[in-house]
Amino acid sequence: MFVSENLSVNEKGHLAVSGVDTVDLAAQYGTPLYVMDEEVIRSACRRFKKSIDSFYGGAGLVCYASKAFCCREMCRIMKDEGIGLDVVSGGELYTAASVDFPMENICFHGNNKTDEELTLALEKKVGRIIVDNIFELERLNALAEKAGVTANIMYRIKPGIDAHTHNFIRTGQIDSKFGFALETGEAFEAVKKAIELKNINLAGLHCHIGSQIFDIDPFVHAAEVMLGFIAKIKNELGFEVKQLNLGGGFGIKYTNSDNPAPFENYMEKVSVKVKEVCEKENISLPFIIIEPGRSIAAPAGLTLYTVGGIKNIPNIRTYVSIDGGMCDNPRYALYKSEYDIEVANKAGEPKTESITLAGKCCESGDLIGENMPVQHIEVGDTVAVLATGAYNYSMSSNYNRIPKPAVVMVKDGSSRVVVKRETMEDIIRNDL
Ligand code: LLP
Repeated sequence: MFVSENLSVNEKGHLAVSGVDTVDLAAQYGTPLYVMDEEVIRSACRRFKKSIDSFYGGAGLVCYASKAFCCREMCRIMKDEGIGLDVVSGGELYTAASVDFPMENICFHGNNKTDEELTLALEKKVGRIIVDNIFELERLNALAEKAGVTANIMYRIKPGIDAHTHNFIRTGQIDSKFGFALETGEAFEAVKKAIELKNINLAGLHCHIGSQIFDIDPFVHAAEVMLGFIAKIKNELGFEVKQLNLGGGFGIKYTNSDNPAPFENYMEKVSVKVKEVCEKENISLPFIIIEPGRSIAAPAGLTLYTVGGIKNIPNIRTYVSIDGGMCDNPRYALYKSEYDIEVANKAGEPKTESITLAGKCCESGDLIGENMPVQHIEVGDTVAVLATGAYNYSMSSNYNRIPKPAVVMVKDGSSRVVVKRETMEDIIRNDL
């Protein structure tokens, strides 16, 4: 059983993505190659949207966290699906603007936005700037005053939730570089300040408790904590916070041992809690924003590589070297993230071997995984690493001056390039 439902084995025994033969894709476009399935992306968007409609009367907005995978075509797809965007840099914002993305549906994040980025956001009339700290608030107020506008903001709050995930990607707890702390009173003081400032409109509050979270409970608890804070603000300051952004973080299936809850359950349970607390605290139901990234992009993607060499070290391990590595997928090197792999040209065969998939970078830690079960593997085979649609292309680098792979989008049985493969000319483009 494959981790993503769009994958199958075709009559040639090859791995297929929504019916498109991955061995043909590797031959046509070369490897390494990122392959994205447009229908998987679109159906995830629709499921998230529908869950807000069904369980929260449609009073909300899904903003795709574009850090997971951002390119112009992805922004076009989101625009077409009526999904907003979470951006975290001038670069992501610029990409969205380049396809005339509706700016009112953008949330602009980041713990250290520059004046240039904030100015760009004001110029573009970005719907919500998520302010991370008091220094940013003051800078933004001054920039907005200079531009003669009012900045629509949300505050990033640390609700203090431990979401039981990898330390590096856990962001809601107090020891985090992101946002204002609740328990120290920092967040409350910041709210008072925002209300006073002339060129600031405090539209709402935001939290994001981490990433690749399987349990629904921490999300429900975060919503409860945030609503408690909204109630405190209303009771003590007479100010009504109208919007609540609950961030992203929904877990996906990377390997068959992963068992994430269907994300509809998330909206269902969170909606019940939000309604319950609002009634108890006598506050109006907030407009809800959610920011899924991985859960929209990851299951849609896979990466194709060609095997160039195999080293069998008796009683130790077998290294299988591919033509990419940590430069296009740094997630094992960074987080020890696990992936399922297939020999794409033998996907119908049983997995009889266990290998270490090694990249081509000049670094021992450049691995895509260890102890990976796989079919009998030989030099020249095409290897598919599954569920790489999020945080692979977006985290890729030119380490060792290796050009970045192309991204191909598959839809209705055909494929098209949405990001060109980098050339050697691109590698020296900025060198003087
Ligand atoms: N909203 C905010 C404010 C975030 O910081 C993030 C992710 C998201 C939404 C989307 O979270 P998602 O639904 O994708 O889990 N590079 C790491 C993940 C870092 C996530 C950072 N923030 C990885 O490869 O696992």
